[in-house]
Amino acid sequence: MVIRLDKYLADSGYGTRSEVRSFLRIGRVSVNGVAEKNGARKVDPEQDRVMVDQEIVSHVSFEYYMLHKPSGIISASKDKTEKTVVDLIKSKKRRDLFPVGRLDRDTEGLLIITNDGDMAHKLLSPKKHVEKTYAAIVSGVFPENAVEEFEHGIDIGDDKLTKPAKFSFSVSTWDIYLKEMYDSLSEEREDLTVCEVRITEGRFHEIKRMFEALGLKVEYLKRYSMGSIKLDAKLSPGEYRELTEEEIELLASSI
Ligand code: URA
Repeated sequence: MVIRLDKYLADSGYGTRSEVRSFLRIGRVSVNGVAEKNGARKVDPEQDRVMVDQEIVSHVSFEYYMLHKPSGIISASKDKTEKTVVDLIKSKKRRDLFPVGRLDRDTEGLLIITNDGDMAHKLLSPKKHVEKTYAAIVSGVFPENAVEEFEHGIDIGDDKLTKPAKFSFSVSTWDIYLKEMYDSLSEEREDLTVCEVRITEGRFHEIKRMFEALGLKVEYLKRYSMGSIKLDAKLSPGEYRELTEEEIELLASSI
C-alpha cells in the first residue's frame, strides 16, 4: 500500500504533517537516494527507502504499549485541561494512540495503549469474553454468598445482570503498591478485605457497582491482567514499555 511521504514521516514520529512539510521544503528528505521536497509524493513502505538527514526512516504502522496506569490520570487520548494516559507515553511515534478501554481516574494498573483499532475492538468486544483480573481493597461486611453472587451475575441497575464473574478472597498477584495501599488504608479502618475479581465485560464502573450492590465499597482497585497480557511487575505506576512481539502475537491469537 502506498502512502503520502508527509504521512509516512508523521507516522514515524517526525512531527505533525505541517512540521514535516517544513523540513521537506528545506531538503532534508530523500527517497531512494534522491532529494524529495514534495510531501504529496507517494511512497511504498515495503519498497522505498526514505531518509531524513541521511538516516533511514522505517514506517511505523502500529504501536503497542503496556502502561502501569497511576491513580489521578484520565483514560483518554487527549484532553484540553488534563493529562491523559496517552500523554504519559513519551516515546510514542504515532499521534493516533488511544487506550484500549477505560480505567477510572482512581483505578491503577494495566492499560494497553495502541493505534490498532481492530485489535482494540476485539479485546473490548463482549462476544470475545476477554478476561480482566482486578485486585480490590473493599470495605464493609461481605454477604456469605459473595462468591455465588458474582458467579450468578449481579443486578447493578442495568437492564441485564452482569455476566458471571469469578470472585476470590485471595489475590493471585500482590505487589508493593497494593501492599502499601492496604497498609495505609488499614490505619484508618479495620473492615478491609483484599480480594480478586475476574470479569469478561467492561461496563461503566462495573466492579465498583458490583460491590456496591452487595453493600460494599471499593476503596482501591487495580487491574493486573487483560487476556494473555499481565502487568509487568518491573513497571512502577506511571511507567510503560512496548509490548514484545511475543505479547502482540499472543494477544492476536487469543482473540
Ligand atoms: N470497574 C470499575 O469499577 N472501575 C474500573 O476502573 C474498572 C473496572
